[in-house]
Amino acid sequence: MAEAPLDRTTPPPDRAPTARLEMTDISVAFGGVTALEAVSLTVEPGQVHGLIGPNGAGKTTMFNVACGLVRPSSGRIAWKGSELRRLRPAQLTRLGIARTLQGVGLFAGMTVLENVMVGAHRHARSGFLSALFAIPTADKDEERLRERAMTALAELDATAYAERYPGSLPYPVQKRVALARALVAEPDLLLLDEPASGLSEDEMHELGELIRTLSARMSVLLVEHHMDLVMRVCDRITVLDSGKPIAVGTPEEIRANPAVTEAYLGDDVDVAAHTTEFGSTRSETAPTGTEGASA
Ligand SMILES: Nc1ncnc2c1ncn2[C@@H]1O[C@H](COP(=O)(O)OP(=O)(O)OP(=O)(O)O)[C@@H](O)[C@H]1O
Ligand SMILES: [Mg+2]
Repeated sequence: MAEAPLDRTTPPPDRAPTARLEMTDISVAFGGVTALEAVSLTVEPGQVHGLIGPNGAGKTTMFNVACGLVRPSSGRIAWKGSELRRLRPAQLTRLGIARTLQGVGLFAGMTVLENVMVGAHRHARSGFLSALFAIPTADKDEERLRERAMTALAELDATAYAERYPGSLPYPVQKRVALARALVAEPDLLLLDEPASGLSEDEMHELGELIRTLSARMSVLLVEHHMDLVMRVCDRITVLDSGKPIAVGTPEEIRANPAVTEAYLGDDVDVAAHTTEFGSTRSETAPTGTEGASA
């Protein structure tokens, strides 16, 4: 059943987010396939912005444009008021943007704590590598990094796993660690691609509460198929269908929009009832390997 919307508290003024992501007229073509056609989306400071749409609508493509993994054939991206001419994934942390990808993408050969420390490298003065390899001058930095990583793990209720290796942990815990790694850099914008996949109802509810808490200090762009989560946590929702934007609005407006319901016909998601089809025919990401991560 649907749950009441989570509390949307006003952040204290000193921590209120100010960063805006503006994506304007974004088009992407893969060979002959038009994945996105003139899609615009603005994530306002402190907003949780949902990006939804049926399978193949272009959500992941738009998400990948926002994190520099896909270069649009046309369109503009402005972040904190400046146009990003060539956004590359390696610049994200420095720009104050963090992401979690659809899988978990943790480094299998590093402990949980080390994985999370990787995410904080923009805050280490001597650089993450020197801290990791314990070059003597970097001792203080490493200590600070470690503290920040432990704080991030604590926020995700995962300090108990600090010395464990990701492969030995249940999938939902790995997802929490991946989120801690994104949060440790204290981003102004958090990009989440299907963070609820593979989670139980209870875990999904906790995730929803966490996202609302985070929105007091950062903006969030949420790509998600679980409609009850989207409807509960988002301030605003953009709906894509076949690469085109078909609706933008509050959860209430989206739920009442006949064009959105129609776009989802034949899909396994009931927008109007915003129920969750957990464990449905839609493929959830299985807890496969933990390699191949990128920080
Ligand atoms: N790398 C690629 N090469 C070719 N076509 C692609 C590529 N990535 C996506 N597409 C196509 O672009 C369209 C949009 O795909 P995208 O993955 O963005 O959709 P989506 O909304 O994320 O779908 P889903 O809900 O299934 O994850 C689809 O037609 C897809 O087949
Ligand atoms: Mg996708």
